[in-house]
Amino acid sequence: MALLDVDHLSVSFGGLTALSSVSLAVERGEIVGLIGPNGAGKTTLFNAITGFGRPSAGLVRFKGEVITGWPAHRICWAGIARTFQIVRLLPELSVLENVLVAGSFGRRGHGNGRAMTRQEAMRLLERVGLGARGNDAPQVLPLADQKRLEIARALATGPELLLLDEALSGLRGHEARELMALIRAIRQEGTTVVMIEHIMKAIMTLSDRVVVLHHGEKIAEGTPREVSTSPQVIAAYLGTSERHDPARPAVDR
Ligand SMILES: Nc1ncnc2c1ncn2[C@@H]1O[C@H](COP(=O)(O)OP(=O)(O)O)[C@@H](O)[C@H]1O
Ligand SMILES: [Mg+2]
Repeated sequence: MALLDVDHLSVSFGGLTALSSVSLAVERGEIVGLIGPNGAGKTTLFNAITGFGRPSAGLVRFKGEVITGWPAHRICWAGIARTFQIVRLLPELSVLENVLVAGSFGRRGHGNGRAMTRQEAMRLLERVGLGARGNDAPQVLPLADQKRLEIARALATGPELLLLDEALSGLRGHEARELMALIRAIRQEGTTVVMIEHIMKAIMTLSDRVVVLHHGEKIAEGTPREVSTSPQVIAAYLGTSERHDPARPAVDR
């Protein structure tokens, strides 16, 4: 049984179909890359999986159970955590408290009835490279650090499936490499990852499998090599050969 099974999922906003009958399965232990041009429906797919907005058709199953229509907190308790493309931190709380809240009200706090300790939250902050920023207000952090804090917060909930929405965007080269190593380590420890990313080098080196969305439809799925050589994907997203340099972002932002 797949860990996550998205079954003919559609999402509409008024007359606009943002996702059109998209199906995909994610197996336990995988890193799946989700790519596609801006507006392709990638974030909408994450929203539909995590209980932000209701799909107009289709189902999402997690560990075999239909979770479509569940509220976001219940989906978190079931074991899915996410980060946001546009960061959503709690501005009245410190960096450390942002992690503590997630650790206390997320899945692990809910499951074992024990709030995360400050020490455990600190360890998570150290893991994402924010060990020195625990007492700061999140809004004073540079954007790249806010994104790392979102990852720490998502991990604090104790997820089995982690959805990362452009976690690497805006990071410098060495910062992106550190975060890529962290994503690998997260998977090594047993958390399955689906990552939306425009940085092709990251997608190509981290993903076991890549899914491509275009205009709300899944147009390709396969190994990084299969997808990066697919004429349809090159036409829709990767562009001509000189733009298809895996070391460079593949799209305009
Ligand atoms: N809340 C919303 N209301 C109306 N349209 C939306 C909303 N969210 C996304 N869209 C539209 O749905 C399409 C897919 O958006 P999105 O999922 O954010 O794309 P991506 O993450 O792939 O860039 C876009 O055309 C976008 O403008
Ligand atoms: Mg998006």
